[in-house]
Amino acid sequence: METRLITAEDAQEYHALWIRAVTEFPLAFLMEPAEVAAVTDDQLVNMIAAGRLMGVFHNGLIGFAGIGQRPLVRTRHRATLGPFFVMSECHGTGAADALMQGCLSLARSKGAWMVELYVAADNPRAIRFYERHGFQYEGRMPAATVVDGVVYDDFYYCLELPH
Ligand SMILES: CC(C)(COP(=O)(O)OP(=O)(O)OC[C@H]1O[C@@H](n2cnc3c(N)ncnc32)[C@H](O)[C@@H]1OP(=O)(O)O)[C@@H](O)C(=O)NCCC(=O)NCCS
Repeated sequence: METRLITAEDAQEYHALWIRAVTEFPLAFLMEPAEVAAVTDDQLVNMIAAGRLMGVFHNGLIGFAGIGQRPLVRTRHRATLGPFFVMSECHGTGAADALMQGCLSLARSKGAWMVELYVAADNPRAIRFYERHGFQYEGRMPAATVVDGVVYDDFYYCLELPH
């Protein structure tokens, strides 16, 4: 298993997995499948070039995560984690742990030491996963998303890295 930044060579594989992810786990993403399918090759290349998309690979791409850093001087110690996805057949295999370590290493390498994320309140598996990695519940965002007419809340979690 390898964890590394997704590159332009991975673009089509990443796009296909992204579409699969938002289709199979609608509550785990902000974008609708049709919005992800409509992403153009140029947009994909720009997203990848931003250097915030981490992939986990095992005979191909099996998961991906976004890890961004806030740009302002006063907030650049903060990193934002998300989206975060591992394909179902690799759940419970350690792939998600490897992906998390890759993301946290990237955040640390950029000087960030506070990592934040939002997770759907109705996603107990992801919540357990994040808590196992040390993330602490810090609050609730009411009506974070509306999916097929149903309103969902998000939980806000933070992890302080050694610094
Ligand atoms: C979230 C995700 C990355 C976690 O990866 P994973 O390989 O499934 O995670 P793990 O198996 O290592 O850990 C999951 C934990 O949740 C627990 N769990 C599973 N189902 C659960 C449930 N219904 N309620 C509570 N805990 C649950 C597991 O027992 C495990 O806990 P443990 O380590 O204490 O035994 C993966 O499930 C995924 O990609 N899900 C779909 C997309 C998603 O939800 N992304 C998060 C968006 S914020």
